[in-house]
Amino acid sequence: MSVNERETWSSRIGFVLSCVGAAIGLGNIWLFPWRLGAYGGAAFLIPYLFFVITLGSTGLMEEFAFGRERKAGAIQAFKEVYAERGIDWGDKLGVIPVLGVTGVFVFYAIVVGWILKYFVLALQGQFAVIDKLPAYFGSFAGTPKTIIWHLLAIIITILVLRLGVKDGIERINKVMMPTLFVILFILLLRSLTLPGALEGIKFLLVPEWSKLANPKTWIMALGQAFFTVSLGGAAMLVYGSYLDEDADIPASALQTVIFNTTASFLAAFVIIPAVFAFGLDPKAGPPLLFITLPNIFKQMPGGYIFSVLFFLSIIFAALSSTMNLMEVPVEALMQRLKISRKKSVILVGGLTFAVGLPLDLSMKLFGHFADFVTIYLIPIGAVMAAVTYFWVYDITKARQAINQGSDNPLGTWWEPFAKYVFTIVAGVVLILGIIFGGI
Ligand code: PFF
Ligand code: NA
Repeated sequence: MSVNERETWSSRIGFVLSCVGAAIGLGNIWLFPWRLGAYGGAAFLIPYLFFVITLGSTGLMEEFAFGRERKAGAIQAFKEVYAERGIDWGDKLGVIPVLGVTGVFVFYAIVVGWILKYFVLALQGQFAVIDKLPAYFGSFAGTPKTIIWHLLAIIITILVLRLGVKDGIERINKVMMPTLFVILFILLLRSLTLPGALEGIKFLLVPEWSKLANPKTWIMALGQAFFTVSLGGAAMLVYGSYLDEDADIPASALQTVIFNTTASFLAAFVIIPAVFAFGLDPKAGPPLLFITLPNIFKQMPGGYIFSVLFFLSIIFAALSSTMNLMEVPVEALMQRLKISRKKSVILVGGLTFAVGLPLDLSMKLFGHFADFVTIYLIPIGAVMAAVTYFWVYDITKARQAINQGSDNPLGTWWEPFAKYVFTIVAGVVLILGIIFGGI
């Protein structure tokens, strides 16, 4: 294939599964279950489902259509829109969402490294043997021991991306995503049948309506709705850039939202009932995956096989995201430097590994970096993409681009919703994130 010939997805289902793979990640596993429980159980679902269905799918349609229309990643897509308005620095703006998503890749690759290590520990039956799991994680994360696993995570992603969109990303997601859901169902049966699981189910489901009076509940649901479907102005946009004109963007966006939400539920009902059954504390973030759950596998009947399955499912969830994240700078460099995909993946792999290295050695630095990227860059990217496509370009043309190829085209009512409500709320997500230090 020549340098300027662009690939397209080979099937509609392949595209949707790749988007589902991109969306399902750590946000579903180490944020959602805890938030669902902590912010009112079933009551939390009301704001969350409302926001993710209305705003999440609007953001997805925007990124898919913007990418498809320009057949380009964010830098070139921004450049063209601003150039049409006589502004010649649109590409400089487009760099911001690309840097944001690349930043997510940098810290995700480190976490995937930890997950790969814990998958091997599971395979070796080590959770039954390791005496103090918190101390074990403490002596691993943030130390040079992680470097080799970090490198491995990047190499695996490179190996997939160098095969291209169709033969790499699409083909592997078509296997990984169905397998991920099957494994989650198996784990669900185990978790729900543990003695004492009912407490966890109550924690997740019994609605605490009073929590709806707390603005924090709405704020967390809003932040989750944006983050969970990867709205940052570049990640879903690059997948959209490989779509052809007869793809149904509204349907694809809705399907991505539905599968991503299903995965969040499954993760919640796998994790929380097991945590309660063993009298542990439900937590968010790294301790959940690397301390609490291994502790459970240690005590659980059949813990060996379930630990292997669990970490395998996390590998699938996280690797399908790193492929999408890394594709963003890979596409950008291919396009800007006119280099081949094979060269670009090596360049991006080397650079992002180098940037991540200091973070391997300091959990504090890792935390600051991840916060900077997720609190500032990603929400800024989401706002910039909305402003660029819905305001600087043209809301009516944007709606027509979304409707192209759709059986259920959006009516004109959607234009003020996208232009005013969506863009303003994206700005609110950014501001609240800065105020609260992440939402
Ligand atoms: N959607 C991912 C998750 O839920 O883990 C996180 C994410 C990826 C957010 C890419 C933003 C992004 F651009
Ligand atoms: Na997600």
